[in-house]
Amino acid sequence: MRKIRDDIYWTGYIDWDLRNFHGYSTPAGSTYNAYLIMDEKPTLIDTVKHYGYDEMLWRIKQIIDPAKIQYIISNHTEMDHSGTIGALLKICPNAQIVCSPKGAEGLKRHFLNSGHSDIEWKFKVVNTGDELDIGKRKLKFLLMPMVHWPDSMATYSPSDQILFPNDAFGQHYASHQRYVDEVGIEVALKEAAKYYANIVMPYGAQVLKVLEAVSTLTIDMICPSHGLIWRSAEDIAQIIVHYKKWAAYESNKQVVIVYDTMWHSTEKMAMKLYQFLDQAQVPVKLVNLKISDYSEAVTDIMNSKVVILGSAILNNHVLPSVGGFLTYLKGLKPKNRFGFTFGSYGWSKVGFKDLESAMEESGIEKIAEGQYMQFVPSAEELASLEQFIGPIKKALAI
Ligand code: FEO
Repeated sequence: MRKIRDDIYWTGYIDWDLRNFHGYSTPAGSTYNAYLIMDEKPTLIDTVKHYGYDEMLWRIKQIIDPAKIQYIISNHTEMDHSGTIGALLKICPNAQIVCSPKGAEGLKRHFLNSGHSDIEWKFKVVNTGDELDIGKRKLKFLLMPMVHWPDSMATYSPSDQILFPNDAFGQHYASHQRYVDEVGIEVALKEAAKYYANIVMPYGAQVLKVLEAVSTLTIDMICPSHGLIWRSAEDIAQIIVHYKKWAAYESNKQVVIVYDTMWHSTEKMAMKLYQFLDQAQVPVKLVNLKISDYSEAVTDIMNSKVVILGSAILNNHVLPSVGGFLTYLKGLKPKNRFGFTFGSYGWSKVGFKDLESAMEESGIEKIAEGQYMQFVPSAEELASLEQFIGPIKKALAI
């Protein structure tokens, strides 16, 4: 355990081995953060993924007999945070589960309807503005639907000025350090950006509402349920500023070219576009989906105003790597992005419809017609790609 404030302890689980979180690559692992508040009514905020139960319990037992826990606050049903509530209830017979209305529905679907629990679950359902008196503290709740699921909520301790916002402001990052200032703001922001792009990006409107509500609170510390805690005033200001930017779908004046290639022809087109942009001093990044995974590519798209998507054609469709990526992108819906499509084909261009329709469905506005070249592009065809530098610079307003 780690004491983060008088009578408040981190009792989570560090997932050093995690490398894939339902498709999101996590080379730095992750943590599932649980927080124990030792007040007259001991209260645990969130739990951990099922395989972290023993470690969480070991940490809790250093502080208290778990049987004395009176409340288990479930800010979010997803099983990385609520996966051990069932096990914990068996040794916390007095504990009530505090959650949002949707949280109660979700927990019942996960634990009770499946017959996995033979003990009584005592729910205490809360809504925005409700208070929970745990002794010296009166905890408050803020429902934040879709950040990340309909059930998500934050818990706030006014007397500590600590916000426990669950997934919001989190990062997939395993570390023995608990605070952003111990690891460095650059690392934390990089991981927070990847987390936002892959988990929260479709819900910008909802995030803006949460930020508005959060702006009315005095916050001395943000304790998310993944990764590092934000505790310095500068770091808290930084993550709030970045969340505002991401939620408003703002981006940087840069280009990302995301593609895959079969016999290097699409790669030649991607490289030529890259060279023209580089010569024009336009910041540009190449992402080859054969090498990079979806979650990295999506993070680059969140950071880039112009998105250029390319693929070779295989059996009248885009390459499977690109097809899977387009499915992922359509779900995440980056807004306020501009771009066009390109690629190489053998005898039919019909497969490029996959690219064009996915770009439209993702909300990326077309700034030029798709550029498709047969078999191996000639030097003249490659040179023709220079005509797109003007429209790209216009879209970037540079
Ligand atoms: Fe970290 Fe939506 O769960």
